[in-house]
Amino acid sequence: MTSQTPGPARGPFPGLLIAFEGGDGAGKSTQTAALAAALESRGLTVLRTREPGGTPIGEKLRSLVLEHGHGEIDGRTEALIFAASRAAHAEQVLRPALERGDVVLTDRYIDSSVAYQGAGRHLGTDRVRGINEWATAGLWPDLTVLLDVDPADGRRRRTAGDAAEDRLESEADDFHARIRGAFLELAAARPGQYLVLDAHLPVDDLAAQILDRVDALLSLRQGSSA
Ligand code: TYD
Repeated sequence: MTSQTPGPARGPFPGLLIAFEGGDGAGKSTQTAALAAALESRGLTVLRTREPGGTPIGEKLRSLVLEHGHGEIDGRTEALIFAASRAAHAEQVLRPALERGDVVLTDRYIDSSVAYQGAGRHLGTDRVRGINEWATAGLWPDLTVLLDVDPADGRRRRTAGDAAEDRLESEADDFHARIRGAFLELAAARPGQYLVLDAHLPVDDLAAQILDRVDALLSLRQGSSA
């Protein structure tokens, strides 16, 4: 079960935080890049970043948790490594950019931990959400774009061209099915803060729908600061 508490209040920042979430192979990077290009062409300052990673310590943690060959990494350890990377990212990168007024696009954020570690590893979605709320000092996105992908299709898409799977990607299909279910549950609990899209739609259709939604947010923002 995901938490049913009311959606988090938006941050007190001039910038906008948009998270891209979804199973592996959903096409998040393609859509993040398309949105960044569209917003930059209008003169907005966009910061593209990702998790795990986004800071020097976060990139080290990323290698530790994703690469094969570091021995056993149990579920709690895994959840705390992702949360540690996120704490550094929120403090060192996200907040400063939001304070400057940037539009920040992050490839994965808290929901990835809730879905992968909370549901995928059976650690409990509320508990993992709580750890990450603490890690980020309550920094929640203004909008989460969820690219919904069927796990088997996701695997086909990400292994096309013989790309090797990382430690999480190489988990069995039922692990990825739990993750998909958890993402959809999170979105259903707070529909106003999510844009859920079928990842199989053509890339340009997805990009157009995402831009429309972000435009609506930007107009709201301008309206409230006028
Ligand atoms: P990602 O960078 O999106 O993978 P790639 O760029 O290789 O497509 O994410 C790396 C993996 O880490 C992915 O399988 C999801 C997983 N992950 C978690 O399990 N928990 C988390 O909190 C995050 C951010 C990622």
